[in-house]
Amino acid sequence: MNASARADFGGMRVFSPESRHAGTMAESIARHGGIPVLAPSLRELPLEDPPEVQPFVEGLRDGSIDVVIFLTGVGAKALAAAIAGHFPGDAFAKALGRTLVAVRGPKPLAALRAMGARADVEAPAPNTWRELLAAIDSATVLSGKRVALQEYGVPNAELVRALAARGARVLRVPIYRWALPEDTTPMKEAIRQIVAGMIDVALFTNARQIDHLLQVAREEELAEPLVAALANIVVASVGPVCSDALRRSGLRVDFEPSHPKMGPLVRETAEKAASLAETRRQAGAAARAAATTPRETPRLNASPDPGFSESPFMRACRLEQAPHTPIWIMRQAGRYMAEYRAIRDRVSFLELCRTPDLICEVTVTAAERLGVDAAIIFSDILLPLDPMGVRLEFAAGAGPVLHGAVRSGEAVDALRELDPEASLPWVFEGIRLTRAALKPGTPLIGFVGAPFTLASYVCEGGSSRNFEHTKTLMYRDAGAWRALMEKLTRALSKHLNAQIAAGAQAVQIFDSWVGALSPGDYREFVLPHSRALIHSITPGVPVIHFGTGTAGLLELMRDAGGDVIGLDWRVELREAWGRIGYDRGVQGNLDPMVLFATPEDIRERAKAVLDAADNRPGHIFNLGHGILPQTSVDHAIALVDAVHEEGARRSA
Ligand code: CP3
Repeated sequence: MNASARADFGGMRVFSPESRHAGTMAESIARHGGIPVLAPSLRELPLEDPPEVQPFVEGLRDGSIDVVIFLTGVGAKALAAAIAGHFPGDAFAKALGRTLVAVRGPKPLAALRAMGARADVEAPAPNTWRELLAAIDSATVLSGKRVALQEYGVPNAELVRALAARGARVLRVPIYRWALPEDTTPMKEAIRQIVAGMIDVALFTNARQIDHLLQVAREEELAEPLVAALANIVVASVGPVCSDALRRSGLRVDFEPSHPKMGPLVRETAEKAASLAETRRQAGAAARAAATTPRETPRLNASPDPGFSESPFMRACRLEQAPHTPIWIMRQAGRYMAEYRAIRDRVSFLELCRTPDLICEVTVTAAERLGVDAAIIFSDILLPLDPMGVRLEFAAGAGPVLHGAVRSGEAVDALRELDPEASLPWVFEGIRLTRAALKPGTPLIGFVGAPFTLASYVCEGGSSRNFEHTKTLMYRDAGAWRALMEKLTRALSKHLNAQIAAGAQAVQIFDSWVGALSPGDYREFVLPHSRALIHSITPGVPVIHFGTGTAGLLELMRDAGGDVIGLDWRVELREAWGRIGYDRGVQGNLDPMVLFATPEDIRERAKAVLDAADNRPGHIFNLGHGILPQTSVDHAIALVDAVHEEGARRSA
């Protein structure tokens, strides 16, 4: 078979905590060219007469249970054993005979037959809960029925929800507990091997395994080294429940197979092992560089500034003449770049935002690939809202969704204060790694959304055209509005200063949607808060104050503050800078769509922006808004090159 011939671990050492199928797992790893290191980490404990089964026992006795579902053979046997004291002899089979019995497949069916019971409904292959439910549906109407569900290991929440959605009253009958194996020596040995860097791949097949592994590691005082070591090897997980458990324990999951089964897990991980390991190795190298840099810096360079303060970008922020006009591109790390999409094929956007070494990787890759004069930390303006109590979700293709929109004074009061270091630690760890991995002369930009733009997301629950809820709160409850803006401002100030403390050299405030406001409303409802935020930023750190649709607001934005004012493309740069005043810098302002033109046209239009800036000190070249996902990377690079060449020619 061709596919499995290519699926080869190539001699890697592959660890798995699989227990019941440890033998099969070891065999399968070996067949795919790996060296198996198995350490069974679970012992299944059938409980005798656990209190959870009491309602089931009573329901069977009094005839109030209409349907009984058996999901697994082992579980069915364990349940019968646990309640044997209540149903001696064939009493259990008889009691079941008064209900509709459904089984998920041949194994629970065999277990029932062995105890003299029958099944009325058997789910066909592939024996998932979906087939099971369809089979039950064709046998009975579930609405109003009392359904007992034998549960095994991790409960099947989807099945429970689907039963409830049909109007069934679900009685869950949990029958399993997991314990550590009686002999934990193999686990201890495996932990030591992982910590010593002797393992290349870890395959997890159950959500409990990581808890048990960490429990034993803690006893050995190796929990932290274990988590750190697992960050350097390829971690594959059988499916989403298992992956969630791994992530809750602070691990990153590199791979999930196409089907949540052991076979595909081993085969597909083997297929991708080499490239997954390479990605891990690079991220590990960046992390190690970060860990060693603070120690090496004083020896390499007596000054604490490794070079960025005289970079063209920082000089422009201070309105000093630079050797060429600096350029960076808003959203420079994004979907238009194949390297970014490759990472996004493996992890969700939020996961990416919460994984420091991936943050570092995408930030540095984008800056280096484009050859820009500054990097911007990969993150999102919406991340601080989640720990404040507005749950954030990115639904595929639908943009951000914020659950529990804030539309009243009570809702504002319920928002939590932000403790950025505690709830967004990956941002700061990402900044530390990135700062260490970037070329010393490349400044790193930190950022937040402005209070108004974030208020618009929490009030609307997502993106918006007319900002109905935002403006309704603003106009109808000025007190609640002020409280909301003040709370956001406190949170954003802490977040921005923590980014600076972690290693950001400059910051940008994105007031992306402020152009929705009239000048009068901006002055009254927004300006005081943006000003408070900007004034609270660590002194000496340049601030870029950006918005779109702001042609009518530029002077007011300047009054709110910022060393550099960001312009979109709907204003002419020369005129805008004149209005703002030459005591501030400007950033911008090429229409992002210009990158869809030919490289020659891109150069001409870039020149026009440079012309409008008159070679004044304090111009940072950028697009007027974020680069679009359909943009060609080559065109973005052509822009960067054109700005560097034209800029150098002008200042020569
Ligand atoms: O510029 C950079 O490279 C740094 C990263 C960055 C992102 N978002 C990554 C991102 C920055 C600076 C932001 C800021 C941001 N986020 C803003 C202000 C900037 C602007 O464009 O006005 C806003 C309004 C958001 C909120 C947000 N995040 C929206 C509306 C969306 C969905 C729209 C979209 O482009 O998909 C995001 C998601 C997002 N943030 C992506 C990226 C790369 C795309 C997500 C993906 O990978 O699918």
